[in-house]
Amino acid sequence: MPDSGPIAADSPLAAQAEWLTRYRFGLRLSEQGTVVSVGDGIAWISGLPSARMDEIVQMDDGSSALVFHLARNRIGAILLRQTEQLTAGTAAFLTGKRLSIAVGDSLLGRVVDPLGTPLDDGGPLDPGVRRLLDVRSPPIIARDFVAQPMYTGCKIVDTLIPIGKGQRQLIIGDNGTGKSALAVDAVINQRGKNVYCVYVLIGQKRSTVVNTIETLRRSGALAYTTLVVAEATAMPGLKYLAPFAGCTVSDAWTWQGRDTLVVYDDLTTHARSYRELSLLLRRPPGREAYPGDIFYLHARLLERSTRLAAKHGGGSMTALPIIETEQGEIASYIPTNLISITDGQIYLDHDLFARGFLPAIDVTRSVSRIGGNAQHPNIKKEAGRMKLDYLQFLELEVFTRFGSRLEASMEARIRRGQVLREILKQDTLASLAIEFQMAWLVAYNEGLFDNVELGRVKQRMMLLQRQVEHARVSIEEGRDQWKKLVHAWLSEVATSEVS
Ligand SMILES: Nc1ncnc2c1ncn2[C@@H]1O[C@H](COP(=O)(O)OP(=O)(O)O)[C@@H](O)[C@H]1O
Ligand SMILES: [Mg+2]
Repeated sequence: MPDSGPIAADSPLAAQAEWLTRYRFGLRLSEQGTVVSVGDGIAWISGLPSARMDEIVQMDDGSSALVFHLARNRIGAILLRQTEQLTAGTAAFLTGKRLSIAVGDSLLGRVVDPLGTPLDDGGPLDPGVRRLLDVRSPPIIARDFVAQPMYTGCKIVDTLIPIGKGQRQLIIGDNGTGKSALAVDAVINQRGKNVYCVYVLIGQKRSTVVNTIETLRRSGALAYTTLVVAEATAMPGLKYLAPFAGCTVSDAWTWQGRDTLVVYDDLTTHARSYRELSLLLRRPPGREAYPGDIFYLHARLLERSTRLAAKHGGGSMTALPIIETEQGEIASYIPTNLISITDGQIYLDHDLFARGFLPAIDVTRSVSRIGGNAQHPNIKKEAGRMKLDYLQFLELEVFTRFGSRLEASMEARIRRGQVLREILKQDTLASLAIEFQMAWLVAYNEGLFDNVELGRVKQRMMLLQRQVEHARVSIEEGRDQWKKLVHAWLSEVATSEVS
């Protein structure tokens, strides 16, 4: 075959030819480390003197790890992936890379691990855009005030402990008091509201993970939700990274101008994983054996939740971190940290749960420090009146425990309070529209529930709800209009009950 001269520009070889003309011999230095020991989700590696914190280390067997601790002659790394072959003596290399995760709309409806590997059977993810797991939180000047409501669909929360878009509201309580149920309901309530959600499950049992996914799927919430999962059996490194991964997924949408909601279920387990890793890597333990920077870690995570200024797209990231207490002890280290980092807390009480007051929210110990600014003024006014009634009732009720005789007006107040308590009860998976919240608030404040038997409150509320749904009335309506409507609705309900 004759020599064909210079390669034509459209030939497949053109690129290689181009590369060859520019090729220069050079010296490339690379360090080869060796795994010294491995176990409990961490590895000690020697021979990598230029390793940097948070850099990814690749092992010869396919395992990978994250540099977490720099010592004089060796580094401590937390394992991200571990093969069976990883042992002392395995070669290790620096990659110069930091952790990132795929972000974007292809993650909607998907279940991924904190490294972005799909855990469902939905096929590979679109690698499109990646985002670093650990990025700085938005600067103050890029932020705006929390001014729009983020409805959870829960009667008590939306009226008494309102949350705004961009707020960080802690859900705190003992095991089995309904913390996750409340968070899941809040996610489900975002259906049709153009809010993207990220639900991070940290160290939960497989059965809980499956149930959560199923609940979201059945409620049609998966369409706008991503789950980031590091199960109980996952490596501690993955549990430690999970909230940052979830935050990053949420963060990417926020910077696109979207409203997002992220749930961290739960940060108690997260703190424990971090403690475990830190102790294994011989970092000095602090209070309750947690490393000293656990506060910084959680503060940095939650500082990334905010509402962005219009100039930056006006997106928002609302965060619902969950903390599990032991026997109601909110004064221990991690709970006090989180209470001071967040903009308020929803306290779920074990006794209330046991007495069947569900959701078991203790109104007296729950606050929302900034959500009130975001609450609709109509709701705010009605809820303020209702709250006063409720708090007075709770105080009065204590007296009645001693069997003391009360005067008639007190008697009436207590009855009104008991009715209110019935009204405030709510099942799971029963999110309520804000218009209905307005309707029952007005009805209650107008005294329209005063003579309803306690056993009939629930039914009455359901009938009222149906009326509101049919009427399609807006929350913007003035109080007089609302008053007229609820009067009409409830008299209709009362007659239908009689017949
Ligand atoms: N408002 C509610 N009405 C009825 N059952 C509830 C309610 N809230 C929670 N539960 C039930 O209580 C149990 C514990 O709730 P869960 O959210 O798992 O608690 P936690 O996350 O605090 O451990 C679940 O079986 C849940 O269905
Ligand atoms: Mg839970």
